Amino acid sequence: MRIMRGFPRKAPWVMQGREAVGFLTAPEQTSLVGVMMLDIHCHILPNSDDGADSMETALLMARMAADSGVTTIIATPHSNLPRAKEKNFRDAPLAMRFVELIQRVRDAGIPLEIQPGAEVMCMPNTVELLRKKQLVTLARTDYLLVEFFFDERLEYMDDMLDAIAAEGIHPVVAHPERYEAVQQAPGLIGQWFAKGYIIQLNKGSILGRLGRSAQKAAAGILSRGLAHVVASDAHDTLARTPGFSGLQQYLEDNYGFDYARVLLELNPERICRNQPIIRAD
Ligand SMILES: [Fe+2]
Repeated sequence: MRIMRGFPRKAPWVMQGREAVGFLTAPEQTSLVGVMMLDIHCHILPNSDDGADSMETALLMARMAADSGVTTIIATPHSNLPRAKEKNFRDAPLAMRFVELIQRVRDAGIPLEIQPGAEVMCMPNTVELLRKKQLVTLARTDYLLVEFFFDERLEYMDDMLDAIAAEGIHPVVAHPERYEAVQQAPGLIGQWFAKGYIIQLNKGSILGRLGRSAQKAAAGILSRGLAHVVASDAHDTLARTPGFSGLQQYLEDNYGFDYARVLLELNPERICRNQPIIRAD
């Protein structure tokens, strides 16, 4: 039996948009049966972006993730990146690449579910692409993983997130701790959190592999209970790796067992099921 620590102090809320609709149920808070971690941000789809450079690399990444206790990965190639060869919009060729990866993971006997997704660069065309259904949401849900350039203006990020939410889509903000505006004005996260936007931190930021500024910002967000989900944002098997080995223990040791479970298991699972996420403030 593992000892439950006191963070978060209050029972986590279950949110529907901005509304609290209930508490995390007792079984969700206390069940210790099995660990089923889900990674909602991973560049495992081969030859699609700066992530896996071959099917062999993708399979190695899949194996690393599964060995660390990850049961599901949402494959999220960069989408809508200016100057990128692959835009990774929703079309038949992209769907075929997802299917091939799923099949190859299955053929290799790796116990890992792969779901389709994308990490969408927020550009002025993003809402139009959304309306035309050209963007790939996370696991076919109403959650959309979005990113910004690291030096993006605060007002632009705010406007874009509001515009996406106005379309009935829940924006999942990829690694906000890496954005300069957030590092300089940490209070911004509280505003996004209050609006119901999903805050996704990177494993590498938390563990200090993506610079001191990102690590400091991530620690601040976690200590205030403002993160909803942590993901690997893995690109390869050496530097930016998949899997949650080390991370799970680090989160438990520093922020408590309950919160670690919300970040690595419960919220990613809820996103995959298109259910309201849990907030732990
Ligand atoms: Fe990414």
